[in-house]
Amino acid sequence: MSEATDLVIFGGTGDLALRKLLPALYRAFVEKNLADNTRIFPSCRSEKQLNDYMATCEGALKKHLNEGEYSEENWASFRQLINPTLLDISDANSGWSDLRNTLSDAQRIFYMAIAPAFFAKCCEQLSHHEIINENSRVVLEKPIGYDRDSAEKINSQVANYFEESQVFRIDHYLGKETVQNLMVLRFSNLLFENMWDRKSIDHIQISISETVGLEGRAGFYDDAGALRDMVQNHLLQLLCLVAMEPPNELGSQSIRTEKVKVLKALQKIDKDNVREHTIRGQYVTGESQQQLVPGYLEELGKAESFCETFVAIRTFVDNWRWSGVPFYLRTGKRLKQRSAEIVVQFKPVSHPIYKNQSSLVEPNKLTIKLQPDEKIQLELASKQLGQTETKLQPAVLDLNLTQDCENFYSDAYKRLLLDVIANDASLFIHRDEIDNAWAWIDPIIQGWAETDYQPELYRSGSWGPHTADQLLQKDGRHWHNPS
Ligand code: BG6
Repeated sequence: MSEATDLVIFGGTGDLALRKLLPALYRAFVEKNLADNTRIFPSCRSEKQLNDYMATCEGALKKHLNEGEYSEENWASFRQLINPTLLDISDANSGWSDLRNTLSDAQRIFYMAIAPAFFAKCCEQLSHHEIINENSRVVLEKPIGYDRDSAEKINSQVANYFEESQVFRIDHYLGKETVQNLMVLRFSNLLFENMWDRKSIDHIQISISETVGLEGRAGFYDDAGALRDMVQNHLLQLLCLVAMEPPNELGSQSIRTEKVKVLKALQKIDKDNVREHTIRGQYVTGESQQQLVPGYLEELGKAESFCETFVAIRTFVDNWRWSGVPFYLRTGKRLKQRSAEIVVQFKPVSHPIYKNQSSLVEPNKLTIKLQPDEKIQLELASKQLGQTETKLQPAVLDLNLTQDCENFYSDAYKRLLLDVIANDASLFIHRDEIDNAWAWIDPIIQGWAETDYQPELYRSGSWGPHTADQLLQKDGRHWHNPS
């Protein structure tokens, strides 16, 4: 059970709060992981939003919780925690003083579910009205910045009001169960850690594919694109966890130190090699999930845009462990299937004694599936039963992490919110990580601009542009698409 907390959600009526944060808090409450004296203060900008808030919140829970999770009884108790609060970030005379007078001695968490352009202003108001105390924390949602300079500016502004130890930068991918399992798998099984390097691993693929399109976020997305929206944060974080050295302990500082080393070791991609190492794509109309869907430009309502909705990258981690091992990253919208997975492709055995059978089985492959299912699969070679002559066949060790957990709803935001409440920063991003991730991303974006590298069109419902396949084919490899 968590300790007494006052949680203020700036952007209380926004998509993030209604779609992710409130369902996560509801789950935590129902699972009895939230102290009864927790209070939630979602900010509302108008009287109307304030008066409608309970109905809005209930509607959001019904819509976004899984079937069977919502109950009238639980809602009747959970709603007691919610205190909608009238606040305008740009107006010092709105409800700030009331907020200060309402907050108790409990620890204070300020969740910025708002655009980063408002982070500094919001911190300033909190400080001006003396709402921040030493028992306060601030949670920052991605994206933090648009490039290295803007991210640095935001981080410095926030640092004027909060110590680094009070700042929790969230990347919800780190709250996914299988992502944490990846660390357990790597660092608690001698089997893997002994083979986790260039001697045994041929290459690694990290793919996040989505079937959705713009989902009403055209304004933000067209300025950002897939590289900033997904690679700078989620994919690089996954890459760090796969590639980092074992931390000497589980503390947030040790883990962050190892992740930063990986980011610093990433081979630079800039105008000289950007066309060789990256593929940009943009979806056009096509059939997705048995429906004809509009192309990106139609969804956007513009005649022209050079924003990428797909990106594939070939990169290397230039250090002793990974020298020469390609890491292939791929993400896109309106792809064939929703899926997120990490594939670790091992090398073939060094001396095959089963002659002429290599075409029957592939070298070992470890697949860590983050969604839609949470699974870990290891592909092996085995013998076909009942044959006098030994014939090989593929076999899979299949670990389904969710099947035995009835009534457990794996929810990344729930996990991360409980971590903030518990003051555990291990799964949050340090300022240095943001800085080093942008330091690698910026030259790619500049390289695209300087070489006038336009996105290639791909059909909605496909696996992206053909050139993404060629990126691997020229290395003699292929993407492992989810089955
Ligand atoms: C967000 C991106 O961070 O992650 C979205 O801004 C994307 O564009 C989303 O759709 C994907 O998250 P998940 O957990 O649904 O894979």
